[in-house]
Amino acid sequence: MSSSSRHKSAIRSTKTVFGSPQEGCISRKDLLTIKSLDVRDIELIIDTAAAFHEVAGRAVKKVPALRGKTIANLFIEPSTRTRTSFELAAKRLSADVVNLSGSSSSIMKGESLVDTGQALECMGVDLVVIRHPAAGAAHTLARTLKAGVVNAGDGAHEHPTQALLDLFTIIRVRGKNIAGLRVVMVGDITRSRVARSNIHLLIKLNASVCVVGPPTMIPPHIEKLGVSVSYDLESALKGADLVMILRVQHEREQRSLFPNIQEYARLYGVTRERLALAKPNVLVLHPGPMNRGIEISTEVADGLSSVILDQVANGIAVRMGVLYLLAATRGAKGVGGA
Ligand code: CP
Repeated sequence: MSSSSRHKSAIRSTKTVFGSPQEGCISRKDLLTIKSLDVRDIELIIDTAAAFHEVAGRAVKKVPALRGKTIANLFIEPSTRTRTSFELAAKRLSADVVNLSGSSSSIMKGESLVDTGQALECMGVDLVVIRHPAAGAAHTLARTLKAGVVNAGDGAHEHPTQALLDLFTIIRVRGKNIAGLRVVMVGDITRSRVARSNIHLLIKLNASVCVVGPPTMIPPHIEKLGVSVSYDLESALKGADLVMILRVQHEREQRSLFPNIQEYARLYGVTRERLALAKPNVLVLHPGPMNRGIEISTEVADGLSSVILDQVANGIAVRMGVLYLLAATRGAKGVGGA
């Protein structure tokens, strides 16, 4: 039985749990961080995503919700999942979509991010989705533009839609009661925007989060965010409900953080034997792309506990929800604008 068919029987519709997208609007022009969201915003995004999730099962996967709106995807860093799912999300909402990458834009010629954003805005772009290697890039753009800005990952800072799609995936399998779930997050916590966004989100929902990794990958004073810290993966995994595995980021300088990759895999790789220490119905999440055999074994990645492909699939519905809430209400009284 595949992981998705195993979980299908347990899946419940979040639409009936929280409501429908018509019932609320989001009173902000940008989505920059999870830290800045309140629980009501989070529930509204999850509700809206649940309603749009149904569209993926239709023969014609399209609704007219954002007809006449224009969305620009500005990706200055590589991406497969986030970029593709934002593009598919916008197209399924009937928005017009333009895609720019670092190499295909005038940023290559030295143009500033703000000048690029203003050029897009004066051509009628309503929302800019940005991925950038520098923490704070999305904030810089949002401060300057009247158009809405969605942070699709800024350096080691935040990746809010990844945390939201992780939550959506957990809710569809486990239901909405996140409070008290025991979450183990393992890997490079210091440099992971996925970790930072997920910590803020899970703590807001009263989950119990333990971050695990070599001391060089755990930021000092992280307990102030409400998490516990362990350097011993096996003891942390005992009784875990969720295991969130972070990628070893080869593209960022990590040689000084652990002696070698084999040593990391030996101490912090999630294997079938280690996963057996968690609860029998544990869920395994990984944002991708994965390094099989390093932070996660192939048995775990493809095993019955894995919801990794569900995360990717659910990303479209969650991004449809985010784009809809930010773009559809622009121009409405009290919403949108700078
Ligand atoms: N999870 C994630 O951000 O993956 P991509 O880098 O492929 O977008």
